[in-house]
Amino acid sequence: MLHLSSPAEAKEWCASQRRQNQTIGFVPTMGALHRGHLSLLNRARQENTTCCVSIFINPLQFEDGQDFDAYPRNLDTDLSLLADNGCDMVFEGTLEQFFPEIDPKDSIPLIPAGHFGKGLEEEFRPGHLDGVRTIVDRLFKVVGESKAYFGEKDFQQTLVVSDLARAIGYPEVIVCPTVREVSGLALSSRNSLLKAEQASEVTQIYQALLAAKKFWQQGERDPETLRCAMNDILEASTLVIEYAAIRDPENWSASPPYGHLTQAQALIAARMGSVRLIDNMRLDNETP
Ligand code: PAJ
Repeated sequence: MLHLSSPAEAKEWCASQRRQNQTIGFVPTMGALHRGHLSLLNRARQENTTCCVSIFINPLQFEDGQDFDAYPRNLDTDLSLLADNGCDMVFEGTLEQFFPEIDPKDSIPLIPAGHFGKGLEEEFRPGHLDGVRTIVDRLFKVVGESKAYFGEKDFQQTLVVSDLARAIGYPEVIVCPTVREVSGLALSSRNSLLKAEQASEVTQIYQALLAAKKFWQQGERDPETLRCAMNDILEASTLVIEYAAIRDPENWSASPPYGHLTQAQALIAARMGSVRLIDNMRLDNETP
C-alpha cells in the first residue's frame, strides 16, 4: 500500500491511475478506523479496479477545540488495517496543504452546506456541515473522477456530499449501510471514548429507532407520533437528547414534515457524558 503525505502527491497518483484506465474507489475518513470504515473500503474494492482512502481530521468541521483534541487518533493501527484490507493508496495532508491559496494567518472560507444542511445537525453543531462540505470539496478535487463511498450512519452528511457531487459533476456518491455492533449500536470512532457502563445505555438509541420503525410497519404515518415513540425510549435512559426527529429524506427541510408521510427517515443525536452519538434508520417494511 502506498502511503502519501500530501494531497498534491495523491492528486498525481489518481491522475496516473486514470491514465492507465483504472477506475478509482475513494473512501474519505478521519481515521480511528473500524468495521464501518472497512465496509466502505471493501465495497470500493469490489466496484473499482483500484481504491484509495484519505485520513484527515478536519478541524473545519469541529466547532469546539476540545472535541477536536479528544478525537481518537490511531495512525499505525489504521495503516495496517488498510493494508490488510486491500487499500492501494492512503493519503494524509495538513490544512495548509489542502488550502495552499489561503495565507495560514487567515481563516479558511467555508462553503455553505446548502439546502440539505438545514436543521438537525445545523441546529446542534452550527457550521459542522459547512466544514464537511468545504473539506469534501477539496478531497473530491484531489481524487477527481471516481466513485466515493459514504456511510448512511451520517445521513445528513450523505445528503450534503451528494449535493456537492451533483454541483461539481463528480464523483459518483455511493451510500453504504450502517455497520452495527450485535447490540445494535452503530460503530463510531467516538465509541472508544465511552466507559463500559455507558456502552450498554447508548444502545437505547437503536431501540428508539426500532420503535419508530415498528410503528411505521404497523401503519403509523404521522411524524409526531413516530417522534414520540423514539422520545419515550430515549427519555427513559440517561442519554441527553439533542434531537429525535422524523424527516422526509428527499424533501429535506429544517422542520418536521406535516400530515401523512409516504417516506421517512428517523434520526437521533444524543450525548452520553461528553460523547456525542448520532444514528438514523429508514422507516420501511424491511426487517432491521
Ligand atoms: P468519519 O467519521 O471517519 O467517517 C468516514 C466514513 O465512514 C463516513 O462516510 C461515515 O459515514 C462512515 N461510517 C462511520 N461509521 C460507520 C458505520 N458504523 N457504518 C458505515 N459507515 C460508517 O464522516 C467523516 O469521517 C468526515 O465527516 C469526512 C466525510 C471524512 C469529512 O471530513
